[in-house]
Amino acid sequence: MITITFVVFLIAVIYYLVHLNHQHWKKRGINGPQPIFLAGNMGRSILLQIQPGEIFTDIYRKYNNESIVGAFKSFTPFLLIRDPDLIKEITIKSFSHFRDNDVEIDKKVDPIFGRNPFVLKGEEWKVVRAQLTPAFTSGKMKWLYPSWENNSSKMVQFLEQRPNATNGNGYEAKELCTRFTLNNVGDSVFGIDAKCFDEDNSEFRQLAKDFFTPGSWTIITILIANIFPFVMKILPIRFCPKSVEKKLTQIVSQTLQYREDNNIVRNDFLQIIRELKKTSKDYEFTDLDVTAHAAGFFGDGYETSSQVMSFVLYHLAANEDVQMKLRNEINEAFDEKERLPYEVLQTLTYLDGVFNETLRLTPPVFFLQKMCTEDFSYVSKDSKSVLIEKGTPIVLPIYGLQTDPQYFEDPESFKPERFLAENKERVKKCTFMPFGEGPRACLGQRFGALQVKVGVSYLIKNFELRLNKKTQVPLKFDPANVLVAPVGGLWIDFKKIA
Ligand code: HEM
Repeated sequence: MITITFVVFLIAVIYYLVHLNHQHWKKRGINGPQPIFLAGNMGRSILLQIQPGEIFTDIYRKYNNESIVGAFKSFTPFLLIRDPDLIKEITIKSFSHFRDNDVEIDKKVDPIFGRNPFVLKGEEWKVVRAQLTPAFTSGKMKWLYPSWENNSSKMVQFLEQRPNATNGNGYEAKELCTRFTLNNVGDSVFGIDAKCFDEDNSEFRQLAKDFFTPGSWTIITILIANIFPFVMKILPIRFCPKSVEKKLTQIVSQTLQYREDNNIVRNDFLQIIRELKKTSKDYEFTDLDVTAHAAGFFGDGYETSSQVMSFVLYHLAANEDVQMKLRNEINEAFDEKERLPYEVLQTLTYLDGVFNETLRLTPPVFFLQKMCTEDFSYVSKDSKSVLIEKGTPIVLPIYGLQTDPQYFEDPESFKPERFLAENKERVKKCTFMPFGEGPRACLGQRFGALQVKVGVSYLIKNFELRLNKKTQVPLKFDPANVLVAPVGGLWIDFKKIA
């Protein structure tokens, strides 16, 4: 009896405290959806009905008169920012008040992901970001380009030898694009032939599968952490499996040793990181840092790009008129040796429009999560003084903004023309931000854009693309995946152009 009374009392106290906490935004005069006990506003994500990103999009659309909306992940209050001018303030002008991403990974638990610039905070982030930035100059991209062009040709040959891809059974676009970007990353980061078009299960491909296929415990903790953020602080979350960490360390040390012994200097990412180890003055650059940054280039380098590239193919297959227009531009661009010179690729404006329009309609991440690291006050459009307190998590609803008819007319239609020179100026700042914005924006933007564009160009020159009936339209996104992953995959028929 005493136990039952105690349990009832405990539940009542927890309920009261959670209820009190759920008054957080009301007390500050900020509007938002009504939270429910324990789940806050993330109920449908807890039930695995939709992605957290889709919840944020719903909030964005519903509160279209507000510039900020107060909501809750479980009982943690967060602010969803709707006003692009305020997003500009947060990501660019007052960046020092919102410097960190809202993600917690302990370096001691996960030495690889814990050292990724996306995860690092404060001064450490600043130093590492400055160290890695020179790896992404346009000069470096030009140096990498020939090997990516070779991989594009290999991708074409690979499809030609796959009867299923051309006989109506289709080929899954993400799978194809992952082979391509992994080959690129193998060359550019480690100077290794990843053999993804030669072998169905090359060692490198297996490594990538293990790297980006977290165990079920990790998936559960990522999901829980998205919904109940305090869990990140308590549970030791490891994204990179121990076996992958071991294998990557081995690849890096063997490759470096080989280069050392044979006096080989290559202009690739591993070389850049190797130099950093020698020259870093700001902090001790350990062997683990070398492996972690090489692994970072590896993971960041192939996964998002292959996802974006598969969406480009999907949109082209679904929009034949766009596909034809793009093919006309691309056919003109190839030279007499059937190559697409780097400089010419940079001038293809319609291809650039197709790439950007894909990122608008199907960005690989639907939202960004920032942390307010210093109190920030501003005056809202209706002349109210608003204080964002240090420690407040911030959500930037990329997908909501990019599909808002206020900023993009007829937002559900695929129109690359929106991003041609004559219209680009009209895109309001911070309403289109698939790479983020400001000092913390994606470091590999050039790398990603270039490999997607060259791969797509070779495919469009050689094949007509149609959607295969196995593709589930309209797309539905896997609620158990943090990235935007279409359920059932993107199946495409590739018809060889004679
Ligand atoms: C088309 C492909 C890609 C897309 C759409 C993309 C998108 C993004 C986004 C949205 C962020 C978060 C930005 C923010 O927090 O404000 C990010 C961060 C980052 N990306 Fe990418 N990315 C792509 C390709 C790449 C590639 C190829 C690399 C490296 C080879 C890369 C490296 C990084 C790094 C290191 C960060 C963390 C930057 C920091 O916090 O300082 N990304 N990316």
